[in-house]
Amino acid sequence: MKNITVIGSGTMGNGIAHVFALNNYKVHLFDISTDALAKAMVVIEKNLDRQVEKGSITAEQKTSTLQNITSSASLESAAKDADLVVEAATENSAIKLELFKNLDALCNPGAILASNTSSISITKIAAATKRPAQVIGMHFMNPVPVMKLIEVIRGYATSDETTKTIFEISKALGKNPVEVNDYPGFVANRILMPMINEAIISLHEGVAGVEEIDTVMKLGMAHPMGPLQLADFIGLDVCLFIMNVLYEGFGNSKYAPCPLLKNMVTAGYLGVKSGEGFYKYTKGSKDLVVSGMFSK
Ligand code: CAA
Repeated sequence: MKNITVIGSGTMGNGIAHVFALNNYKVHLFDISTDALAKAMVVIEKNLDRQVEKGSITAEQKTSTLQNITSSASLESAAKDADLVVEAATENSAIKLELFKNLDALCNPGAILASNTSSISITKIAAATKRPAQVIGMHFMNPVPVMKLIEVIRGYATSDETTKTIFEISKALGKNPVEVNDYPGFVANRILMPMINEAIISLHEGVAGVEEIDTVMKLGMAHPMGPLQLADFIGLDVCLFIMNVLYEGFGNSKYAPCPLLKNMVTAGYLGVKSGEGFYKYTKGSKDLVVSGMFSK
């Protein structure tokens, strides 16, 4: 396994490309938008600079990492030499199914097709291909260069050999792979999202304010971010999407998304990416300022 194709150059895709390239894999980064690819390369360079400044990598490693990445807007050229594809496109079933059908046709028969999906069924994605034994979930956490976990999700037909290969590659990236089965939300989001939803319900019911809820979880449970700040970081649209996957997947009302979460997404308050969610974000500032909607 030497040639890795990463599909999608957003936050997760560029982080995944960064980590593979830093660990001496040849990365082909694909996106349908050349603008998005150019932006991704700027982000990767900035994140590498941050690691050089902290002394966690050398300037030479930064140079070789950038040299290991080729970008292109042609799926055909990105897929043709891949040993492993890691798909990190938009979290949309129809887009992913179409992509996997095309990747299956374009890639070498031996290639493994992995998805970084946070909640879409791996079994369903694998069924869009003629190689379901070689389809697997490889769920990285944000920020990818920092977080140590890779949730490795086995679909119904994923082979032991594919799983073993993905475990070996994950370890070669300095990550800790954990094997889980294909159920709604897998493990990470089945546990994380109901916690975030409960924090939003607590805010909605007036149990406590934004800062109070986050402080309880930061200082009381040693979480690096409170659940409301984390929801902003992940994106409230993503949180709502995953809650709906759990709600529909299990048919259990305990997973019903909070009406406040639904309203905020409808109004375009998506968190960091839209500039405001539970907090208000100003470019260049690291200060956490509670959104005017929730300040006392
Ligand atoms: N690239 C490279 N390095 C980065 C980075 C990036 N994108 N972002 C942060 N870092 C590094 C920093 O350089 C710093 O390095 P040192 O430890 O060597 O100093 C370190 O990470 C900590 O960063 P900061 O000092 O800037 O800030 P912080 O201490 O507040 O940590 C954080 C930031 C790592 C994001 C931390 O707040 C955190 O762990 N938050 C929780 C993240 C989390 O829960 N992620 C999972 C989200 S869920 C998900 O991804 C899955 C899903 O399906 C929804």
